[in-house]
Amino acid sequence: MTDRTPPSTRFGGLHVAVIMDGNGRWARARGLPRVAGHRAGAEAVRRTVEAAANQGIGTLTLFAFSSDNWLRPRAEVDTLMQLFYEYLLGPEIGRAVENGIRVAVIGRRDRLSPALVEAIEAAEQATRAGRRMLVRLAVDYSARDAILAAAARVNGGGKLGREQFARLMAEATHADSLPEVDLLIRTGGEQRLSDFLLWECAYAELHFTRTLWPDFGAAHLEEALADYQRRERRFGRVPEAAASIA
Ligand code: FPP
Repeated sequence: MTDRTPPSTRFGGLHVAVIMDGNGRWARARGLPRVAGHRAGAEAVRRTVEAAANQGIGTLTLFAFSSDNWLRPRAEVDTLMQLFYEYLLGPEIGRAVENGIRVAVIGRRDRLSPALVEAIEAAEQATRAGRRMLVRLAVDYSARDAILAAAARVNGGGKLGREQFARLMAEATHADSLPEVDLLIRTGGEQRLSDFLLWECAYAELHFTRTLWPDFGAAHLEEALADYQRRERRFGRVPEAAASIA
């Protein structure tokens, strides 16, 4: 985060979510172990956070570890956890503070190591005053589990509004709110949601790219944002009515 140019406000308030896919294939194509792909993926995270801040994006949510990823080989899981730990304790957090970026982690915490939970809490605490952009890392995250956890907390059979339910879901994932996703990007060529932000993506625009995550950077983000700007968002309404809320 060394770029100190004034941020664009073009995408102020926009919530962009990213399914970072393709680390393994990136490594295999180079004859490297999968974990080398994750290391390169961590560099792409750094580049993309910087590019998103410079584009004036409001919230960036990155799918770093799905609850189903626990089923990967132990060594790969350990490397991913180590990368999250290094990211949260490394120079990136100091740069986030300098640049007004708030960092938060969503998902379950009870299966993470105490050291990682401590690093998460320290990073959240250090960056809490950031107002330029919110970066959320989803770790041990499952949208279905979040919905189930929220449903389990609904008591009585009374009428429950969407906002009240969203609040329960936010609490279930350690999030302070449940921002609707405007644009969901998935790298790596697959076209699916993989249990990511299912509720929040109700009206998200979807952008799929074949680019593998370790190759992703500012130009790819710009391309996705340009694609987003060409979409007509209707939120279930007719075009004329939608124009007044877009
Ligand atoms: C999917 O690629 C990627 C992941 C499961 C992990 C995402 C993690 C990072 C980008 C690394 C570090 C992140 C931070 C926040 C420091 P895949 O392994 O499923 O790739 P494949 O589909 O090609 O096998």
